[in-house]
Amino acid sequence: MSVPNQVIDQRAEEVLTQERRRFEERTPKSKALYERAEASMPFGVASSFQAGDPYPIYLTGGRGSRVHDVDGHSYIDYHNGFGSMAAGHAHPKVRAAIEKAAESGTHFAATTKTAVLLAEELKRRFGIEKVRFTNSGTEATMDAVRLARAAAGKDILLKMEGSYHGHHDAVMYSIIPSMDSGGPSERPWTVPFSRGIPAGEADFTKVVPFNDPEALEQTLREEGDQIGALIMEPIMMNIGIVMPLPGYLERVRELCTEHGVLLIFDEVKTGVTVAPGGATELFGVQPDLLCLAKSIGGGTPIGAFGGRADIMDEITKGVAALGTFNGNPLSMGAALATLTEVLTPDAYQHLAKLGTRLAGGTQEILDRHGIKAVTTDLGCKGSITFRDKPIESYRDFAEVDDSLFDAYWFWSVNRDLYQTPGKEEQWTISAQHSEADIDYTLEVFEGYCELVAP
Ligand SMILES: Cc1ncc(COP(=O)(O)O)c(C=O)c1O
Repeated sequence: MSVPNQVIDQRAEEVLTQERRRFEERTPKSKALYERAEASMPFGVASSFQAGDPYPIYLTGGRGSRVHDVDGHSYIDYHNGFGSMAAGHAHPKVRAAIEKAAESGTHFAATTKTAVLLAEELKRRFGIEKVRFTNSGTEATMDAVRLARAAAGKDILLKMEGSYHGHHDAVMYSIIPSMDSGGPSERPWTVPFSRGIPAGEADFTKVVPFNDPEALEQTLREEGDQIGALIMEPIMMNIGIVMPLPGYLERVRELCTEHGVLLIFDEVKTGVTVAPGGATELFGVQPDLLCLAKSIGGGTPIGAFGGRADIMDEITKGVAALGTFNGNPLSMGAALATLTEVLTPDAYQHLAKLGTRLAGGTQEILDRHGIKAVTTDLGCKGSITFRDKPIESYRDFAEVDDSLFDAYWFWSVNRDLYQTPGKEEQWTISAQHSEADIDYTLEVFEGYCELVAP
């Protein structure tokens, strides 16, 4: 029997108040460092996504499945560097590669053999023909978008409402628009995410809803002659996890081909995590270009984009793809070790087993307590969505219960689980997590559910 939402929400509010207080009692050194950091960095952090309420937890290090904070707590890490640490922290193989690079020089701005080997490994995993390296996911999507516009000979970019592709201007639209600013659901408006983007830029980015092939078809029928590329995550991962409906990606592929629109898969989060060859492998739909970053680098700054040789070779014909640190030996070495020595077939089996244990166990607890929520299991990646059915596109996200999520974040952090704050993220399990880590996590979750829905 399910417990009425109002009752659960009221209990969640009580848990939130109590656990916030407890959090502040447990983390005085993070608080002090925040007060100091604020004087030298906006929000006291290096990236605004690292900010926290009432303040962020400041970490000192990590090893295996755990991270440690300035107050001396050791947490099981599911945040994992916003999904960058599928290898786990300080993995011996990645450390060895980094030490080797440190000994033999970390930067030349010249291409090394390791970069060539890494490009070959990415080609093998993703079925792509040529690759270029960058230093972040943002740079990967920025370069891929420029390349696609040039190759298609058309300037307008299409993106999905509610998707995040990094912080360059072309994609900084309709990331989390308020529901009253987004326009009609089948034809969303282009809503800027930041101040400082020239108003005219919005003319070059259009927005469509995810999982809606009819809306895409109509937009392409009306404006396809000006649209050069569609950038999308094949599984949306910045509003929880949103799976593509059966047949959707195949239809997107067909429509793009029909209208001469290049299809870019942003696999910054899904690549090498949901399968060795990312969502491209999982669904068997090949984009024209794809973007990678995060977990490919084993914790070093990296990005990559690649795809069809005829498109990538436009780079030899006047399309700029540049960067002093592209392909630097430190990231190349760490990434090659991650992909060839850490994220092995055995590691993927381990991740699949742990993922099912966590997602399945979580769902069982939710059902037993009558809490309306669904879990998603993608091996290394997974999530809880506090809604009675899965999200299909951005507008559904408004129905996700914030209070249950906020209270659980504080509950779990006070019990040594480090998770991404905010219902828009998901968990990442690393190759170094153990069954004991998962079982402890389920115990903590059970305790929370007992309190909000006894
Ligand atoms: C899907 C997706 N694309 C691109 C990016 C940007 O990557 P980065 O933060 O490395 O610039 C992110 C970052 O979270 C992302 O989730």
